[in-house]
Amino acid sequence: MSDAQVAGSLTQMICGYWHSQAIYAAAKLGIADLLKNGPRTVDELAAATETKPDFLFRLLRALASLGIFAEQTPRTFGLTPMAELLQSNVPGSQRSLVLMMGEEHYTVWGKLVEILHTGDNAFEKTLGAPIFEWLSQHPEQGQIFDEAMTGIHGRETAAVLAAYDFSQYKQLVDVGGGNGSKIAAILQHHPSLQGVLFDLPHVVDRAAPRLIEAGVADRCELARGSFFEAGGIPAGADAYLMRHIIHDWDDDKSLAILRNCHAAMPIGGKLLLVESVIPPGNGPFATKFLDLTMMLIPGGKERSALEYRTLYEQAGFELTRIVATTTEISVIEGTKR
Ligand SMILES: C[S@@+](CC[C@H](N)C(=O)[O-])C[C@H]1O[C@@H](n2cnc3c(N)ncnc32)[C@H](O)[C@@H]1O
Repeated sequence: MSDAQVAGSLTQMICGYWHSQAIYAAAKLGIADLLKNGPRTVDELAAATETKPDFLFRLLRALASLGIFAEQTPRTFGLTPMAELLQSNVPGSQRSLVLMMGEEHYTVWGKLVEILHTGDNAFEKTLGAPIFEWLSQHPEQGQIFDEAMTGIHGRETAAVLAAYDFSQYKQLVDVGGGNGSKIAAILQHHPSLQGVLFDLPHVVDRAAPRLIEAGVADRCELARGSFFEAGGIPAGADAYLMRHIIHDWDDDKSLAILRNCHAAMPIGGKLLLVESVIPPGNGPFATKFLDLTMMLIPGGKERSALEYRTLYEQAGFELTRIVATTTEISVIEGTKR
């Protein structure tokens, strides 16, 4: 790269939030939903969103330069494939993810320098409570969080199903299963498998209709509780899945969850963590930035293979294999000794 290209790339990264905040503004105003029946003029969109037409035009012109919305005739905008994903309630919708990133996460990321000095949890410092407690006190944001997990992690489900055979199990407990979309997809893929969706009570209450819609409610028990409570995790299944759970927590809390899981399982039972395993070296790997979000938001961390092996040994599991997928995430399989 030439010196000018180096400087240009750096400038683009420095100003990266211009893009994310512009996308957030359009998502917050619900512009993509307003365009679902076809293109509309800026004046119509401004009237519907109570915004200034000239300012809204400049927002949409900027986003159209990224391929999000398209100006089809002067001052009339329509959807593009990326803009379609900013609609609510469409398959693959990323609207909740944008809302979460543009609100709580954006505010909390502003504390990064302070937190590097203090080692405190930035979310709690900013919003007054640890994230999962705060979400239980703020149901609207709780629902946005549940949906945002599909926005950020939803595409991993197909990759995991392609890489890992769950048909070897009789019953799979999805610990911290969130909105239920993952256990629903696994049960649809494996018609003889039984499932359990386990999460905090308010999360399971919101997820229940999704299992009915997916046609798997008769094969999926609902279990409400905390994975930090001794005896809280449903006992006796032959496999326990946790996707993006352990990365939310520091080593002490992760060990507490893994030990509670261990206590719930029969000898020989399988623990399946679905997480990214950070490779050594300087190469690009998106999870290295997700790791900073884990540091700031729940107070957790992304880990290397060695770090997972150490946690497994300390909790009484043998790490039997790490199954790669076509995405950055892997299935880290362990067996209860
Ligand atoms: C990062 S989300 C992952 C959700 C889901 N596994 C997925 O991959 O989309 C973490 C999940 O852990 C759940 N959780 C947090 N604290 C919990 C606790 N003490 N007991 C059970 N679940 C908890 C949250 O409600 C949330 O659904």
